[in-house]
Amino acid sequence: MRVLLGVGGGIAAYKSAELARLLMERGHEVQTVMTAAAEEFVRPLTFAALTGRKTLTDLFAIESAIEHIAVAQQNDVFAIAPATADLMARLAHGLADDFLTTVYLAFAGPVVVAPAMNVNMWQHAATRANLDTLLGRGHRIVGPGEGYLACGMTGAGRLADPEEIADAIEQELRTRRDLEGETVLITAGPTQEPLDPVRFISNRSSGKMGYALAEAAAARGAHVILISGPVHLPPPRGVEVISVRTAREMRDRVFENLEPASIVIKSAAVADFHLSAVPDQKVKKTAARMSLELDPTPDILAELGRKKGDRLLIGFAAETQNLQQEARRKLESKNCDMVVANFVGGAETGFESDQNEVVLVMRTGEVLPLPRASKHEIARRIFDEVMKLRLVLHAANER
Ligand code: PMT
Repeated sequence: MRVLLGVGGGIAAYKSAELARLLMERGHEVQTVMTAAAEEFVRPLTFAALTGRKTLTDLFAIESAIEHIAVAQQNDVFAIAPATADLMARLAHGLADDFLTTVYLAFAGPVVVAPAMNVNMWQHAATRANLDTLLGRGHRIVGPGEGYLACGMTGAGRLADPEEIADAIEQELRTRRDLEGETVLITAGPTQEPLDPVRFISNRSSGKMGYALAEAAAARGAHVILISGPVHLPPPRGVEVISVRTAREMRDRVFENLEPASIVIKSAAVADFHLSAVPDQKVKKTAARMSLELDPTPDILAELGRKKGDRLLIGFAAETQNLQQEARRKLESKNCDMVVANFVGGAETGFESDQNEVVLVMRTGEVLPLPRASKHEIARRIFDEVMKLRLVLHAANER
């Protein structure tokens, strides 16, 4: 495959030469583009000698008047290593003040980013915000690793090993469009069950997990139908969003849109109860106690389990205890193929958080914990495992 290797101006730039060599050894073509700061650490000639191609540095050199567009179109993946704090900031904010950042804006394919910097810089809120922006675009982030840093400190900030970066590049190329031509149906966010024209019952779901799943599916080429309760998130790029309020509305939109879907993922936090007869007028406050008589809402997942056909059905389990047992119970009782179980009793995972930590419980009996990571990374990993599970289940059905 054709790899565009972007090299930033950090001491780890010397390791990018090893990455270029490794990629060539694995049979890929490598075109290098360097920032001016990178040239302070490694000469362009080094990469030219390793790759057999001119190293691109100067956007305004005569022969490269529109070369950045051609370069962006001629490559299958854009790997940026090392990505310094400054380079991450420029990419996140869409600056195009040199060859590398200009090509980045012109490049429409998969992007792999390997950060490297001092541990304090890596942990700074500005860097974290830029990282989230890049994750939100579906870019794959590799590392950084922990260990001794050039500045003499130890901690997170080391450039990932060239082998790890090369593996991530190849993984990105393999999974890139593996949902091309398929429709994925996803539910996200809370539902709101009215108590009167003013009040409602709901929960703390922000929609972040479901929206990250929609982005991950779209990044793999799927047509994504996202049925979303009320949230405060921008619609993910290239995703068809259908907004609902109540569990009943969500259930109806799910089955109206089920037909073309090959994969269904139910990450929405659907209310379990609702007021069956909602008063037309606002209920006046009185000193007396008030009790509510609530009826169960439609169990959308259970109904999907009965009607899924040969679709892959992935449910979620929001638990405060007995995570795996509850997930296994739901998998069996709702006829799911996978249940994504997450602990919702703390602040760092589950509702509203930017990160999550889940356990994937599969119909095959496999149980796969995914360590805490951004919901974007968790979403990507869930689809990696969904695609593997589907192969296993289809092979089992053919036997
Ligand atoms: O949105 P975020 O802030 O990012 O938070 C993410 C999340 C915590 C909401 C998400 O990761 C999650 O756990 N979603 C499922 C929440 C939930 O309703 O879990 P549950 O165990 O109560 O429901 C089990 C499954 O049944 C879920 O797939 C749910 O969509 C489904 N369900 C539940 C009730 C109902 N009436 N119909 C359903 O389909």
